[in-house]
Amino acid sequence: MTIINVAASKVYDVIIKNGILDDLGERITGLFGRCTAVIISDDNVFPLYGERVRKALKKWDLKVLELVLPNGEKSKSIATYAEVMKFLAENKVSRSDVIVALGGGVIGDLAGFAAATYLRGIKYVQVPTTLLAAVDSSVGGKTAVDLDIGKNLVGSFYQPSLVACDPETLTTLSSEVYRAGCAEIIKYGLLGNAEFFSELAKVPVKEQYEKVIATCVSMKRDIVKRDEFDTGKRQLLNLGHTFGHAIEAKSDFSLSHGFCVAIGMAIISKAAVRKGICDKSVSEAVVSILKKYSLPTVSPYTAEIICEAVGSDKKIFSSKLNLVVPEAVGKCRIISTPLFEIPGWLEGMEVSAK
Ligand code: NAD
Ligand code: GLY
Repeated sequence: MTIINVAASKVYDVIIKNGILDDLGERITGLFGRCTAVIISDDNVFPLYGERVRKALKKWDLKVLELVLPNGEKSKSIATYAEVMKFLAENKVSRSDVIVALGGGVIGDLAGFAAATYLRGIKYVQVPTTLLAAVDSSVGGKTAVDLDIGKNLVGSFYQPSLVACDPETLTTLSSEVYRAGCAEIIKYGLLGNAEFFSELAKVPVKEQYEKVIATCVSMKRDIVKRDEFDTGKRQLLNLGHTFGHAIEAKSDFSLSHGFCVAIGMAIISKAAVRKGICDKSVSEAVVSILKKYSLPTVSPYTAEIICEAVGSDKKIFSSKLNLVVPEAVGKCRIISTPLFEIPGWLEGMEVSAK
């Protein structure tokens, strides 16, 4: 078992422990006493783990309510958010009650935003069941839903009261969801931990879940402590995201977020070499580790199309964006870049498969 204490506007523990699903009743009662626990989950995760969580909560005499939503990004919508609000109100959920977000980043972001806004804020517990949620989205308090014109446009910073991560739940992930999580993990190594990066190249993530999750969460804890509201260093976590997001949007979200981040990391590393910001060995190491995890390293779109997609991103509300650029494996820099300079970063580069 590993416990990582996060000190942000709220102080809370991230507990990584095989079998912690069965302790949820005890943990929640310990924090909040007898209350109603509202499990929000999706239709993949609930049939796998819902019964165990329900049993664990009932064992401690908690009243349990359950809301199971369709899996996938489409559930991170205003319409689903409204459905959650209605469910909470109709069931007279009060400020002394707690939401239990059982699922991946979609459920965590949606349930977290519901908790942030229902009755002006009630408590919530993150129970991440994907690798991406375990290492990233369940920690740090970014909660949101999407609008048609862009992802995460409606949201808040709202920290959970507990993150209970059970690595055993990761054994049922599909290969694609597992690999997408690995891309975000490689990102942590590249942005700030060279030793971790080379360890990942030697030992597969699935052979060291607890250690890998603990390393990423510790790094995120340090970043969030310094910059909870994303005005500076937290943006390092967007490594690979500028070009990655453009590719993801261009694919109409048919390519997974993690896969696009992988491509984005490969592109920005190669661009950094061309700009003389890092050595060629860095981009070679990035491409090599991504290939080791069967992640894509080239884009289905040309540099021109990617730049156009960056420029037309409706989420960019200023004429500048912050590019996260590798200087070495384990060290990145944030470079404020006017939009008109973005094509210059990819000029003459072969970013797509021939
Ligand atoms: P997801 O929640 O859609 O999960 C991916 C798929 O895996 C879903 O079909 C889900 O039903 C299934 N699944 C989940 N756990 C499973 C398990 N244990 N066994 C079998 N199947 C399981 O996607 P995700 O990759 O976890 O999260 C992506 C979301 O996270 C995006 O909306 C993204 O914007 C958000 N995100 C948020 C933050 C943040 O800081 N809040 C950070 C990164 C990403
Ligand atoms: N995943 C990005 C962040 O938490 O800031």
